[in-house]
Amino acid sequence: MTGSDRPDPTEGHCPSMLITHIGELVTNDPGHGGVLGIIEDAAVLMCDEKVTWVGTTADLPADTDPDKHIDAGGAAVVPGFVDAHTHAVFAGDRAEEFAMRMAGASYEDILSSGGGIYSTVRSTRDASLTDLVSASLTRIDHMLVSGTTTAEVKSGYGLDVETEARMLEAIAVIDDVAPIDLIPTFLGAHVVAPEFLDARDDYIELVTGPMLERVASFAGFIDVFCDDAAFTVEETRRIVEAGRAAGLAARLHVDQLSRSGGTALAAEIGALSADHVDHATDEDLAALADAGTVAVLLPGVSYAMRSAPPDARRVWDAGVTVAIATDCNPGTAYVETMPFVISLAVVTGGLTPGEAVWAATKGGALALGLTDRGVIAPGMLADMVILDAPSHTHIAYRPDGALPIEVVKRGMLV
Ligand code: NIG
Ligand code: FE
Repeated sequence: MTGSDRPDPTEGHCPSMLITHIGELVTNDPGHGGVLGIIEDAAVLMCDEKVTWVGTTADLPADTDPDKHIDAGGAAVVPGFVDAHTHAVFAGDRAEEFAMRMAGASYEDILSSGGGIYSTVRSTRDASLTDLVSASLTRIDHMLVSGTTTAEVKSGYGLDVETEARMLEAIAVIDDVAPIDLIPTFLGAHVVAPEFLDARDDYIELVTGPMLERVASFAGFIDVFCDDAAFTVEETRRIVEAGRAAGLAARLHVDQLSRSGGTALAAEIGALSADHVDHATDEDLAALADAGTVAVLLPGVSYAMRSAPPDARRVWDAGVTVAIATDCNPGTAYVETMPFVISLAVVTGGLTPGEAVWAATKGGALALGLTDRGVIAPGMLADMVILDAPSHTHIAYRPDGALPIEVVKRGMLV
């Protein structure tokens, strides 16, 4: 859902909603102190799709007269989750491969024998736009009801001009019909398309030429899977340069399966984000911190891949801006909910519950270059989650999805 379809709030009445007696409001506004800018016994007023007032319930102006009033009764409120890395639009699933991997098969072997990403490419090429939208909408609904109010979604299961364009069209259709903001990324360079395995340079020509030309106006970012199983550092550089020339900012899959040098490249070229970074060295992390590139950590991947979790503590302590995201995809992490990855980042990655909530909200917004969300303050989008719990700590503490929540997206209860 984008703001453009909304009535103009300056024309007549502006629909308003007030939440009072919020036991703990996580604002992420440093003006209120600490990492999370917490206000106790807080109130938030929103008008149309934006926050207009934030403070304590006691300080609320006496003449406040909202259309709708929710008494939170001491519950905690946090900003809506910003899931900055997903592949949530796809057809089919890979449950059988999951069982094979749990029995010892490797992700790389499955991919090189024509399964893995190639399996999802076959199902996605076979799916019509309607099929793709309806299969993906179910996942997007799961994301929304678990508190995700903004999600990035990548193409990358088409690997031909038509299907890459259809994936981006499906993302746009879902953004229109569902009360969530979807941010589209072009990932034509996910792996070399199956038809080009003996001609990888020709595939790069296709991605940086006709494919990019066709999709550039439908995507905000360009992404490349820079890893031994996919594209080299030099190929990645070439693809990113073409994407940037077409107006797309760079966000990259790097150093996921091994240390191939992608994190260093992301820092060198000043990418907006470097995602995965599981095998990044201390020097790589220092370079990310210097470049101001956000590290997007994906702890659901190592969980489902039965590999070592990302050391979120180490990345945070290196001074890097950290985001955490689901990576929702049919292969390495069929994970739809941010509370689950928040909990993993705390329990297996060493973040505090507060740092993890920050990384899942403000961190995610920064990874997408979005300055209008991730913070609850006047002028920001009114995207927030009301927890049936007294503090944000309960998100990591109760990770199994049983913690009831209410979601507010652009000032409306979802
Ligand atoms: O982020 N690493 C590349 N892409 C996805 C996996 C995609 C798939 O296996 O379908 C990831 O893990
Ligand atoms: Fe990914």
